[in-house]
Amino acid sequence: MTERPKILVTQKVPDPAYPPLEAIGDVEANMEEGVIWSYDQLLRSGPGHDYIYGLLTDNVDARFLEACVAGTPRLKMVANMAVGYNNIDVETATRLGIAVSNTPGVLSDTTADLAFALLMATARRIPEAERYLRAGKFKGWGPLLFCGAEVHHSTLGLIGAGRIGKIIAKRASGFEMKVIYYDVYRMSPEEEAAYNVTYLPMDEVLKQADFVSIHTPYMPSTHHLMSTRELSLMKPSAILINTARGPIVDEKALVKALQSGTIAGAGLDVFENEPAVEPELMTMENVVILPHIASASLKTRTLMATMASDNIVAHFHGQRPPNIVNPEVLG
Ligand code: DGY
Repeated sequence: MTERPKILVTQKVPDPAYPPLEAIGDVEANMEEGVIWSYDQLLRSGPGHDYIYGLLTDNVDARFLEACVAGTPRLKMVANMAVGYNNIDVETATRLGIAVSNTPGVLSDTTADLAFALLMATARRIPEAERYLRAGKFKGWGPLLFCGAEVHHSTLGLIGAGRIGKIIAKRASGFEMKVIYYDVYRMSPEEEAAYNVTYLPMDEVLKQADFVSIHTPYMPSTHHLMSTRELSLMKPSAILINTARGPIVDEKALVKALQSGTIAGAGLDVFENEPAVEPELMTMENVVILPHIASASLKTRTLMATMASDNIVAHFHGQRPPNIVNPEVLG
């Protein structure tokens, strides 16, 4: 590509992402902070660009991709500023010769920190206790006031033990937790020893854990991985933590499990129909809900933002983008 490419950035991202893109091409960007384009807006704006720098809120489906290859210039790459790329129809992108990239690794520690914070907050009822105090209800120390679940020496069950799951296991060792895990890929005995984790079938993890924390990617095989049956296997005292993707948990089944006392609580950073949240979850005191902020530290978001730019710049220079998801399109 000798001409300056046309690059579209669909949401306002950290500032350091822009200069590398401006150095190679003409950048059109949605600069309204916090404004997420609708699908229709995306469909109007996408065609006619060589590169799309997108976010997990962009529905990059087959219709959108087809429209972007029908325009001139033809779309060459979608660089997602996220590790997850379930918002992109990668199969169609690959068929159309469009490269797709993501931002793995740089957010793992930050996401693990938040998952652990959510676990602690839910176990120890921190948001509920704070609401109580702010409402002026605190009349003095009470032996039964906000007694929660113990974190130290409890059992943490990881569903998915990739990059983030492994870091959570390290965080858990500081609390002397026993860590059990299930993953379609079992670690080597050396890795299991290094992370001090024990592999078990998923049902066993659910039965034995005091905290079940989800760390799998979202794909057809993990849709509603946690539904009525799986929730019913958990201890009535157990707490579910989800910082992965909302649709991995059947949210309606979760509401029922929480209402009926099948499980004790949930800490959720992601939702099945984000940004919508099941209305019942909004009112339950045993649920801690956050607006998908697991990777939200300024340092990490800046690293993710520049990583997405680097992927575009590499492709422009005819190099292999460092985080390509579908390398087969490079030929
Ligand atoms: C991701 O990157 O996939 C997270 O959900 C947002 O950081």
